[in-house]
Amino acid sequence: MYDTGAGLLADLLHSQVQLHSAYGGVVPELASRDHVRRLLPLVRAALAAAGREIEEIGLVAFTQGPGLGGALLVGASVAAGIGLALDRPVMGIHHLEGHLLSPLLAEPRPAFPFVALLVSGGHTQLMRVDGVGRYALLGETLDDAAGEAFDKTATLLGLEYPGGPALALLAEGGDGARFPLPRPMLASGDLDFSFSGLKTAVLTRARDMGSLDDRARADLAASFQAAVVDVLAAKCIAALEREGLDRLVVAGGVGANAMLRERLVRETAARGADVFFPPARLCTDNGAMIAFAAALKHGAGAAPLEGFPIHARWDLESAARGDQSTP
Ligand code: KG4
Ligand code: ZN
Repeated sequence: MYDTGAGLLADLLHSQVQLHSAYGGVVPELASRDHVRRLLPLVRAALAAAGREIEEIGLVAFTQGPGLGGALLVGASVAAGIGLALDRPVMGIHHLEGHLLSPLLAEPRPAFPFVALLVSGGHTQLMRVDGVGRYALLGETLDDAAGEAFDKTATLLGLEYPGGPALALLAEGGDGARFPLPRPMLASGDLDFSFSGLKTAVLTRARDMGSLDDRARADLAASFQAAVVDVLAAKCIAALEREGLDRLVVAGGVGANAMLRERLVRETAARGADVFFPPARLCTDNGAMIAFAAALKHGAGAAPLEGFPIHARWDLESAARGDQSTP
């Protein structure tokens, strides 16, 4: 729950990590059913935590896409139901727009325009952000997302789902220089990424060695992380230079990675630029960023929705144009 005057009033999360961990990944049908079970109690708990009555809600926000259809529909239906019952406007938010604007929830707040690095389990994109709703894609991954590469490499090293944070932890005790892994597209001259080859390179190294002892696993994890961080940092700096900007904003789950943060702080400072992160707990998926994005968009005059369409696949630029035509 977000209040335009008082800020974030309550930020509750029900994680489905436990639910899906036995299967090593998200099971869509289980995700949908769990949304049905959890959402209303979570809304009630958020109201209680905020100390507000439901009638005090002025605007209802929900994630409109992209994502799993079943889970999106549960959120859209509940939001539309609350809006109808209270006769309040309802606003659908693009998941990445939530991530993109979340660093504005922290102090100091970055001023527009800035370059944003969006690094989640499903996306790796560099965007130019000129204001709320004004986004231009500068580059993106041609295959796996950075978070996906973290998760797949973690699985390969025998770590549990979700692998990203576990791999980062394992890498802390490892030697990132032991295995010289490729830095895909580092010198491609554009702002695109590719991460699927890196995962294969780790697999090849692991196979070459036969069985992996703890030392080798930690060193492989550290070498993988060093390669990803090298590429992400280099492209962020290249994007700032290309756009002539000196503010970088990082959002999405991989933005929680300590090595990435340290590197970006160092490299931006060396160029007299600044880097901004969301509060750590708001890096990975959360509802607060969706409420906040809706408040900003409403304040900027964006129209609420009629009906409640969802979009399993939806790019941010179409969303920013108000294009609801994606099925
Ligand atoms: O944004 P997010 O919570 O969900 C999506 O929208 O995908 O991002 C989740 C991704 C996962 O791939 C997860 O492994 C990764 O973020 N992640 C990390 C770390 N924490 C989360 N990757 C590397 N280091 C971390 N500390
Ligand atoms: Zn996300």
